[in-house]
Amino acid sequence: MSTTAESLTSALRPTARTLPESGIVKVFNHGRNKQGMIPMWAGEGDSPTPQFICEAAAKSMAAGETYYTANRGIPDLRTALARYFTKLYGQPFAMDEFFVTGGGMQAVQLAVQATCGPGDEVIVPAPAWPNFEGALAIHGAKVVTVAMTLGHDGWTLSLDRLFAAVTAKTRAIIINSPANPTGWTASREELKAILDFARARGLWIIADEIYGRFYFNGPLAPSFLEFRRPDDRLILVNTFSKNWAMTGWRIGWMQAPPAIGQIVESLIQYNTSGVATFMQRGAIAALEEGEPFINLQLERAARGRDIVAKALGAFNSVRSVPPAGAFYAFFAIDGLDDSMSAALRLVDEAAIGLAPGIAFGPAAEGHFRICFLRSAPPLEEAMTRLSGWLKNR
Ligand SMILES: Cc1ncc(COP(=O)(O)O)c(C=O)c1O
Repeated sequence: MSTTAESLTSALRPTARTLPESGIVKVFNHGRNKQGMIPMWAGEGDSPTPQFICEAAAKSMAAGETYYTANRGIPDLRTALARYFTKLYGQPFAMDEFFVTGGGMQAVQLAVQATCGPGDEVIVPAPAWPNFEGALAIHGAKVVTVAMTLGHDGWTLSLDRLFAAVTAKTRAIIINSPANPTGWTASREELKAILDFARARGLWIIADEIYGRFYFNGPLAPSFLEFRRPDDRLILVNTFSKNWAMTGWRIGWMQAPPAIGQIVESLIQYNTSGVATFMQRGAIAALEEGEPFINLQLERAARGRDIVAKALGAFNSVRSVPPAGAFYAFFAIDGLDDSMSAALRLVDEAAIGLAPGIAFGPAAEGHFRICFLRSAPPLEEAMTRLSGWLKNR
């Protein structure tokens, strides 16, 4: 680091300057300009956003919907979200529990800002999406990880261990189900037990259910929404990114008790002052006309899961269980303990991009993540390359 960079960096807030670099971005930067790469490192598929969604946004922009917008989101979108959830879960949802955010990431950030501060502890089952820890670290809150274990049937979370991790400093538990990167999906009984525990201990639950529709054992993953009461300290984060292939749009939502609506509105005001109206029009089109596209996404995910499971299953040296939910294969390869250097080698030697386990914390070292939400031909080609590399390594 140059002296200028050093002196400027050391003058920054410690919580900002010690934020970790993303391990996935490191592999991405290494491979992004390589010819013929098949990238499976990011949490997105290979479909662009469907045209009808883009057209709704473009039409709104052309019609002059370019002014300041409502902090909580435009009423049309919040009503559309309430309608979408009512249909999905067969119980009533009201628009005043929905808050439009800059992606799922900002929904997480706002949930953290609303509930946690310096010195607070937040429990996160691990391996976990690293951005939970980053979002907490920015605010000086501390992540307490509870290690999940990988058995013959996949990853499991011990509720005894989860509950034992709670101390007087604990403010919240983050539950991401279906989970990135493991695919772990909590059962109804587990969700109910966690909610009961949080109620008894006065803890917040930040529930990340963004992969709720990518579930391979039924139409919809179990959700906290099935058990909640209006007085629950429950904030759900969600996004348009995955279901509707809108990762680059940066639009999502938070679902929180209407009783804290004004506080959430103020947080949005002082963070971003809302999401562009024309993007919200695109989001309404997604909710209202997007079911056929979601069905294609689900088919693609199921096929991708099979292709990857078949390829990985052929190797005794690979430890992997097809995930219950989300769209990632998360597996270990015997003898490859340094996932970062192996992922960099896979870029150079096999032209495939995997996310290294270490990007998901020390509990995930020695693992690799493949996003299988892709069309079959490139995924099959990627598996051929991976198999060839594994045989010759
Ligand atoms: C578990 C989880 N939550 C939230 C997000 C954030 O999604 P968005 O792209 O909407 O910020 C992701 C993205 O990969 C994720 O995996």
